Amino acid sequence: MKTLLIVYHTGGVKTARMAEAVESGARTEAGVKVIVKRCAEAGPADVLAADGLILGTPENFGYMSGMMKDFLERVFYPCEGKVNGRPYALFVGAGLDGSGAVNSVERIVTGLRLEKRAEALICVRELSPEMLAKCEELGAAFDTGLAMGVF
Ligand SMILES: Cc1cc2nc3c(=O)[nH]c(=O)nc-3n(C[C@H](O)[C@H](O)[C@H](O)COP(=O)(O)O)c2cc1C
Repeated sequence: MKTLLIVYHTGGVKTARMAEAVESGARTEAGVKVIVKRCAEAGPADVLAADGLILGTPENFGYMSGMMKDFLERVFYPCEGKVNGRPYALFVGAGLDGSGAVNSVERIVTGLRLEKRAEALICVRELSPEMLAKCEELGAAFDTGLAMGVF
């Protein structure tokens, strides 16, 4: 059975609600074990054990959140060279922009040789039912790709 790891941080509610929607979409696929952790709880062993990774972060000061950066700093060297080619996706809760968070995460995970499987999902302003549906779709599509071995 494949394992999907969803790792996220939230300082409020938006990214947490996005994470819940991604998780709920991912849980529709029976053939994949879904693990959800906050950045502070996740470490290299979680990443090494996962066949795919979905990351979620708010945008803070034009960058990923400090907790996501801390997570990536802790996992980078223990995982470097051991996760090449594994798929990842990203969702971002932002106020008005979100591109700085996307760029900062993508630079680092590209260094880990993870492969992007979907365009980053950015939620600006209010969290709409449409955006939550997109989060669910992201989780479901990612999971299906993992289960079918398409990734
Ligand atoms: C310290 C701080 C810095 C922020 N910087 C940005 C920013 O650079 N760009 C942006 O679009 N939103 C920015 N925001 C807004 C947050 O990204 C937005 O409120 C987001 O929804 C927070 O997600 P959360 O509720 O999961 O914590 C900032 C918020 C805080 C608290």
